[in-house]
Amino acid sequence: MAVPDVLDAESIRRSKADTLWSRRDFFSLAGWAGVLVVLATMTLGFFRFMFPRVLFEPPTRFEAGRPQEYLVGTVDERFKIERRVWIVHEEYGLFALLAICTHLGCTPNWFPAENKFKCPCHGSGFRRDGTNFEGPAPRPLDRIKLELTPEGDLVVDKAHIFRMAAGKDPDEQYPQAILKV
Ligand code: FES
Repeated sequence: MAVPDVLDAESIRRSKADTLWSRRDFFSLAGWAGVLVVLATMTLGFFRFMFPRVLFEPPTRFEAGRPQEYLVGTVDERFKIERRVWIVHEEYGLFALLAICTHLGCTPNWFPAENKFKCPCHGSGFRRDGTNFEGPAPRPLDRIKLELTPEGDLVVDKAHIFRMAAGKDPDEQYPQAILKV
């Protein structure tokens, strides 16, 4: 009766040896796979680090043509979409307005027939000189440095912003923001 027991044990050992994947093999392989995944992720992270996410913005200074291109008594919108800048020509000079609502930063629209800027977000209104007169905007539109090159071209410098205070005439706050031509 002992022979069949020996044979059974031997057959069990053989059948285990013949099995393609033992439990130990499986866990060993899974462990190595985990290590490889971690290494691959770290390698990808390292190479991603070599290429930082940079936001390329247009230069803050740009040429805006000749003063004669701007008619007196008008708001010029040619730079509104790309630069968020309006150029206004009054009898007393030229100035550049920043097309950013002083309430929450939306871009107002210019309505020539009503002679005013109107913000589409919460209804703030601004006069042609940038003064806020209706809606929640707390202060006038800011102005941007506008200068003339020796060659007679206009240059807008968005790195230099004249921040307007509430309740004061924008023309009087920063006389240097007005280019007399
Ligand atoms: S963002 Fe212009 S009125 Fe609110």
